[in-house]
Amino acid sequence: MIGALELRELREEFPALNQKVHGLPLAYLDNAASSLTPRSVIAALVHFYEHDRANVHRGLHTLSMRATQRYEDARSKVAQWFGVTPETCIFTSGTTHAMNILANSFAMRGHDIVVSESEHHANIASWQVHNPNQSFHVIPFDEEKGYVFNTLDVPSESLLSIQSVANGTGAMLPFEKIYEYVSPRISILDMAQSVAHGPTDFYENKFTYGTLSAHKMYGPTGIGALLCQDENALNALRPLMGGGDMIDRVSFRETSFAKGVARLEAGTPAIANAIGFGAAVDFMKELDWAKLRAHENALLTYADEQLSLVPGLHIFGRSLKRQGVLSFVLEGTHTSDVATLLDRFGIAVRTGHHCAQPLMESLGVSGTLRASFAFYNSIEEVDRLKKALVKISKMLRA
Ligand code: ALA
Repeated sequence: MIGALELRELREEFPALNQKVHGLPLAYLDNAASSLTPRSVIAALVHFYEHDRANVHRGLHTLSMRATQRYEDARSKVAQWFGVTPETCIFTSGTTHAMNILANSFAMRGHDIVVSESEHHANIASWQVHNPNQSFHVIPFDEEKGYVFNTLDVPSESLLSIQSVANGTGAMLPFEKIYEYVSPRISILDMAQSVAHGPTDFYENKFTYGTLSAHKMYGPTGIGALLCQDENALNALRPLMGGGDMIDRVSFRETSFAKGVARLEAGTPAIANAIGFGAAVDFMKELDWAKLRAHENALLTYADEQLSLVPGLHIFGRSLKRQGVLSFVLEGTHTSDVATLLDRFGIAVRTGHHCAQPLMESLGVSGTLRASFAFYNSIEEVDRLKKALVKISKMLRA
């Protein structure tokens, strides 16, 4: 665990933590939806707007060249963090945009898509938007047994598109098993829910593509990345949007497209956000992740123990190792009533189907409450959550 002083210092980096909600100190336990932003990332955004505010790839004046340099430096930082080259790291608006580029490229090619039952909607609906008849091979999730695999049933020409961690339960997908599906298929790893928890090498570069959002790893909203294993993978992608920066030559008769990542980045990009994303990587690089992960795991174990003592509370996803998430219901209550009351105690959690309706259906609920942790959360916040839930349980289930 990290000591009290170290935790206080870490928390001071996140100005949003330092506030009261309904007169009580904020306990921010909604990190799986969006993590908070450290001062260094905010400073990078402000610096861009105050000094380098111009468009990229379009100007020969100093500001434009500085903006371009910072934008491309950010790409290099992000690429390096995930173990790919800058030439194969496409900036997107986030995971959903990245998924839609992939679906636009592959959905009409007749592949079955192999997914788990706990995928979030970006990895289901994007395929259906680009192919209304898209068929899926679903790896079922069972509360007792975890993910139930049958590799033999999976057509060899199918495409694998799978999350690293289930956002609805926090369950970590069993990768020793998933790897059996990877080759020789096109394989996509949705890393949205794992990126907050330290460095990842894009799972040993076994996947063809990776998708992620910066706002889940202490970066700004509105920016993310689509990672490609190599240039062949990049070249297999079709542009989702046409516009400036993605062209080579345009005429009314015919247009040819730019080469490389530019082909997938039409229009003025989210320049400031990309620079902020690079700053988030710089921030993460400075942290001792072995220690922080131990702290996060200890928080989760403690929260699991404590919340299971609350009368009527049922926790999901316990059969698998979880990362950062505790998903639960309080029997006899509506999840949104509980979440609203928790807010009155200054505690922020997410409620609802978590954009994972098929998972909720398999759990037999319409939604859950979800407390999700980052390294800046504390045991004291878990204690407050438990106390509040005990009171709410008494109040609503009386
Ligand atoms: N996927 C995000 C969540 O789990 C939005 O809350």
